[in-house]
Amino acid sequence: MAINKQEHAQWSSSLGFVLAAVGSAVGLGNIWKFPYMVGESGGSAFVIAYLFCIALVGFPILVAEWLIGRRGQKNPVNTFADVAASEGKSRSWGIIGASGILGGFLILSFYSVIGGWALNYITKVASGGFVGQDSDAIGATFDAMLASAGTLTIWHTVFMILTAVIVGIGVTSGIEKTAKILMPLLGLILFVIVGYNVMNGGFGEAVAYLFAPDLSKLTADVMLAALGHAFFTLSIGMGIMVAYGSYLGREVNLLKTARTVVILDTVIALAAGLAIFPIIFSNGLDPASGPGLIFVSLPIAFGSMGAGTIIGTLFFLLITFAAITSSISLLEPTVEFLEERTPMSRTVSTIAASTVIWLLGIAALLSFNLWSDFTIMGNGIFDALDKLTSKFILPLTGLAAIIFLAWRMDQRSIQQELGLSEGAWKLWQIIAKFVAPIAVIVVFITTLMG
Ligand code: PFF
Repeated sequence: MAINKQEHAQWSSSLGFVLAAVGSAVGLGNIWKFPYMVGESGGSAFVIAYLFCIALVGFPILVAEWLIGRRGQKNPVNTFADVAASEGKSRSWGIIGASGILGGFLILSFYSVIGGWALNYITKVASGGFVGQDSDAIGATFDAMLASAGTLTIWHTVFMILTAVIVGIGVTSGIEKTAKILMPLLGLILFVIVGYNVMNGGFGEAVAYLFAPDLSKLTADVMLAALGHAFFTLSIGMGIMVAYGSYLGREVNLLKTARTVVILDTVIALAAGLAIFPIIFSNGLDPASGPGLIFVSLPIAFGSMGAGTIIGTLFFLLITFAAITSSISLLEPTVEFLEERTPMSRTVSTIAASTVIWLLGIAALLSFNLWSDFTIMGNGIFDALDKLTSKFILPLTGLAAIIFLAWRMDQRSIQQELGLSEGAWKLWQIIAKFVAPIAVIVVFITTLMG
């Protein structure tokens, strides 16, 4: 039985909601993960698959999660169960909410480790550590950080504490305010780096690498990676957007809001690509070098551009903030669930959840050094957590959410709620009922068979 200890808060404005949703969506996924996945998956083939997945799968699922969240007004588990019951369906749909919560929980463990890298790099850049250094020295600095379990643990801990404190304070004030100020600044600084690249070579090559259609590299694996990343970057398939939807006032237009979030998120990811790949190419670095990509490329630019120390420090500060506005959204559903379903207060729920996630994060970071030989089905712990969530939990949870919305809920009330004319409604139904679910299923089956 749900115990509601306090009135469910509402966002102070629809602008506040947009900023918080963008705050969740835009994070390390855009700036750290997108570029290295592009690099590992052969460039434009990944970008094209990703854009396709964002538009035809991510967008409708984002709308579905908000709509369901707004109807349910509770944590994701109770929301799915209640909405299903009100439609005369089984309460066991609540399991979708549970798998989403589990996804967010697992992601935060390794997300916090990378948030820690960004924190560490604030201090490295600010102290002028990269000035005049070549790419070998910068690569060695990164490798040294990875090799040190102690350093990684300290920064992961700091990041996790920051996240927990903000979540413990409460949802609206903390999230809205940070997102409002810092997101535009992050966009601006990315464009400054892109501008630097236009002047310093490698730009044309990077544009061709990212956008020249080369479908020969479009394998089932690349499709699955792109699909999983579309979920990761939009924060869907995890119950987070369902939880946010529960704070959403009725006056907010879901389709328009989703369009804003999707466009901003995509623009930031592509800008990150244009900030990073020119540096990779003009310095002869390997685009497929994996999770360290931004940490071995961007410091080269910061070490050589005018005011590079200031710009670089600001950059790592801002991506840390972007990471925090995402990490608080990863922690929120678990905390909301514990708070509403157990006698624990918000503070105790936050501490309990953060501690377990922190411990799992330690296991993840040890896979870069002391436990590097320990693998689960061929993957280190860090990679295993990433793959399990991005490639399985998120797409399957998102799939269940869109199937629930499009096939199990009363469609007339959804048409009204989305405010769609007959023509647009038909298009929506084709996408929500067929295109999005079938795309996820086909990608899965092809990958499993391959
Ligand atoms: N979307 C965030 C990013 O791209 O960094 C990461 C994330 C946040 C994933 C929240 C999932 C989530 F629920």
